[in-house]
Amino acid sequence: MYSVIFGKNPGLSRAEFYSFTRRFNLKVRITGEYRDWLLFDSPRSIEGCFRWLGGSLKLVKVIGEGEEAIKDLEYSKLFTVSLYGRDDWRLWRKLGSEIKKEFNAEGPAKFFKPAKVYAMPAELILKGFPEVKDFVFLFREDGSFLVGETVKVTDPFELKKLDVERPVQRPILSIPPRLARIMVNLTEVRKGNFLDPFCGIGTVLQEFILQGLNAYGSDRDEKRVKEAKRNIAWLRKEFRLKNSAHLEVCDAKKLKRCFGQRFDAIVTEPYLGKPLRRNPGRGEAIKLANELDRFYYHVFESFTDVLKRNAKVVFVFPAYRLSDGGIYRKERKWLGKLGFEVLGRYLDYEERHRLIRDIHLLRYRG
Ligand SMILES: C[S@@+](CC[C@H](N)C(=O)[O-])C[C@H]1O[C@@H](n2cnc3c(N)ncnc32)[C@H](O)[C@@H]1O
Repeated sequence: MYSVIFGKNPGLSRAEFYSFTRRFNLKVRITGEYRDWLLFDSPRSIEGCFRWLGGSLKLVKVIGEGEEAIKDLEYSKLFTVSLYGRDDWRLWRKLGSEIKKEFNAEGPAKFFKPAKVYAMPAELILKGFPEVKDFVFLFREDGSFLVGETVKVTDPFELKKLDVERPVQRPILSIPPRLARIMVNLTEVRKGNFLDPFCGIGTVLQEFILQGLNAYGSDRDEKRVKEAKRNIAWLRKEFRLKNSAHLEVCDAKKLKRCFGQRFDAIVTEPYLGKPLRRNPGRGEAIKLANELDRFYYHVFESFTDVLKRNAKVVFVFPAYRLSDGGIYRKERKWLGKLGFEVLGRYLDYEERHRLIRDIHLLRYRG
């Protein structure tokens, strides 16, 4: 049995995980669902593709249940302890000491303190994971718990490199590489032609290329296309990749003019409107959303010209944090009329953000 530990947006991470298991054709059987983690049975092959998950932190192999299971942990000279479902340093220390006592029969052993009662992937990698081990305690509400060992972590340094080491960066405009990875997984499409018609400096394209997909991108602005090309050239060199992306200067409302082929998936974050200086009132938010919707309608019309039947679209629509603290999320009936079925909607935001990403997963019925 395994457990996956979700990142800071558990709802989105959960949706991504389900899509990911179908995308990689993993025969996974869920055995327990909790807010911040899932328990499941899976073939070992999940360990090989775990790195392609964007929104999860760790893959934990479950070893047993309750304190008895501590005896079955494999010796490690240096280790740490991660608690999920309990925020209790005394308990953390007690469990660490028990493991250390067991290990001392085999050799010297020490455990180190993470910043929280659980270790983050970056802390583990810096300490020397996987030689340095992370023993995980998953607490259920009734107080019973499972014990496991982290076998894989998603690599925050790789994602950071994709963001801050590339030659062209636009921190305000561009989507985080982690989110690009999540959005690609949400498509559940493993192979085929992928398009980002608002490619900007190419964050989503980078992910297409890393995953060996047939990558296509376009932007109305010639300058952005040049910048995306520079970032892609850097990516290919840094990661020693042979494949590349086809890029066009193109208005997303007129995709047929630029692309002769049809696509299996579109993954994109479009123009989301001007930056907001303050949180809008409800009326203002409705007005902003309606204005942008006129544009998005034409964009989706253009999608129908270039998509295959049953193709997937992952599209970021804007939602708004209102001046009264609420959130405005628009319903878009016109999507159905154009042949797009909404399969899922997920919010992605931080407290301080005025503009919220309302990520839509859609299927084009054709
Ligand atoms: C939010 S940015 C996309 C950022 C990109 N996802 C990234 O992370 O690098 C939106 C992009 O849409 C482009 N854009 C705006 N209107 C467009 C249109 N009608 N057709 C194509 N691109 C357009 C802008 O030039 C801009 O680069």
